[in-house]
Amino acid sequence: MAADDQLAKVCKLLVECGNAVALTGAGISVESDIPAFRGSQGLWEKYDPMEYASIGGFVRGPEKCWQMLSELLVICEKALPNAAHYGLAKLESMGLLRSVITQNVDCLHQAAGSLLVVEYHGNMKELVCISCWKSYLSNERWKNDGIAPRCDCGEILKPNIVMFGEPIPWLARECAEEEARSCAVLLVIGTSAQVAPACDIPRIADESGAVIVEINPETTWLTETVTDIYIPGMASDVLRKVLEMLN
Ligand code: OAD
Repeated sequence: MAADDQLAKVCKLLVECGNAVALTGAGISVESDIPAFRGSQGLWEKYDPMEYASIGGFVRGPEKCWQMLSELLVICEKALPNAAHYGLAKLESMGLLRSVITQNVDCLHQAAGSLLVVEYHGNMKELVCISCWKSYLSNERWKNDGIAPRCDCGEILKPNIVMFGEPIPWLARECAEEEARSCAVLLVIGTSAQVAPACDIPRIADESGAVIVEINPETTWLTETVTDIYIPGMASDVLRKVLEMLN
């Protein structure tokens, strides 16, 4: 866990600038029992992402992709926000955090009470028809019965997430880049920063003069490049400590 003086420095920055933004990745939801994508326990150890999580793979074999997607939906449905999600919502309500840009599709930031959330990779709670674009809530159509859900028009439904090979939704990308360009502090929490273009967000913030604070038990390529303050630790422990110090 990070030294108290590093955390005190982060608290001071948050209070003085009143203009922080958070970028979150799968690591923030690990303590909500949603496995990360990379690493020994990661989803991509079990499923080849190019086969199960790419748009090409989905079009070629939607039933096969739905095995992985169903597993993820079951996990997301059961998951509850943890102290890190609640901590970010609290910082927003205190006026110390402007928004959260998340790569996660689990909707746990909103469940914790965060109001301004940019869903960079979409979310699992909606399904969209790959032919007519009609959308549904997941639980209206997905029954976890091993059968891929279908639209009224008969075509397969896909979760409203960004699969490999698909572009980031225009509005999410514009909002995220604008938040990165205009914040004074960027909290980068629980991401390996290996997926583009999300991994450009810290660089955009850095080039615009923001202080980059990275919270992650492991270092990443950001740590030696754009990170100004590295806080080693689990997101929930770090956010709990930050809030204690601010109170
Ligand atoms: P990764 O699985 O690549 O990285 C998770 C990061 O979280 C790692 O750096 C871990 O060290 C860190 N971590 C683990 N436990 C943590 C904890 N308790 N607190 C803080 N950090 C912790 O996940 P992402 O970087 O989010 O894309 O992956 C980015 C994208 O790759 C995902 O959005 C997904 C995936 O393919 C799509 O589905 C399009």
